Amino acid sequence: MSYLVAANWKMNKTVGDTLEYLELFLPSVKDLTKVEIMIAPPFTALSSASIKLDAAKKEGEYNVKLGAQNMYFEEKGAFTGEISPVMLTELEVDYVILGHSERRHIFGEKDELINKKVISAVEHGIRPILCVGETIEEREQGKTLSVVERQIRNGLAGVERDMVYIDIAYEPVWAIGTGVNATPQQAQEVHRFIRSLINEISKGNDSKTRILYGGSVNEKNARELIKEPNIDGFLVGTASLDPERFYKIITEV
Ligand code: G3P
Repeated sequence: MSYLVAANWKMNKTVGDTLEYLELFLPSVKDLTKVEIMIAPPFTALSSASIKLDAAKKEGEYNVKLGAQNMYFEEKGAFTGEISPVMLTELEVDYVILGHSERRHIFGEKDELINKKVISAVEHGIRPILCVGETIEEREQGKTLSVVERQIRNGLAGVERDMVYIDIAYEPVWAIGTGVNATPQQAQEVHRFIRSLINEISKGNDSKTRILYGGSVNEKNARELIKEPNIDGFLVGTASLDPERFYKIITEV
């Protein structure tokens, strides 16, 4: 299983910004095929990014995949403002980030809805990255592992045997966008727990599932974090917005 380093741009970058970024970033990761890279721009820039990536791949070796930041589980219909898996596969989107803490906490997404999305993504051949993580209050109350366990068991209900098509991101809510990352030890403790949990629920069929860490990852802390045995890559927010910083993180892996 190769490491995965993924960029979640969130609600940042126009189409123009995206093309400018890829223009700078892609040459730097040409032939760098050991690590899998994923970029998740906003929906509006997916089409242009997809065309740009396709063109680059005709010119050289790139291990860069395209991701969406969310999707709805239905294929089409009266769901104003939503994006379907069919719309994403048309753009050759490889990954979809689901259950991100901002979706859970700002937009009120619950485990049950996230689970429907995970199932739908797997059915449509889009690799979901299921995000889980505790709030600071939950950590202080000693509930970290039970919260993560609930989010994983509920989020993966019905697709436990399909873990080869799914990745997980552990993103403690208190570390997202705060500049305070989980220490390698804190992250490793939860990652080890997640690995044993998915090993149990998938009946050992989890060898292709990566467990990414996310939350204030940057070019300075990436090296120490990736040394931990159960950290299989990163989901990067702020530091991925700058192509040079994102490149440096990738080279630390
Ligand atoms: O999905 C990535 C994320 O939530 C982490 O954001 O800005 O702390 O790297 P950031």
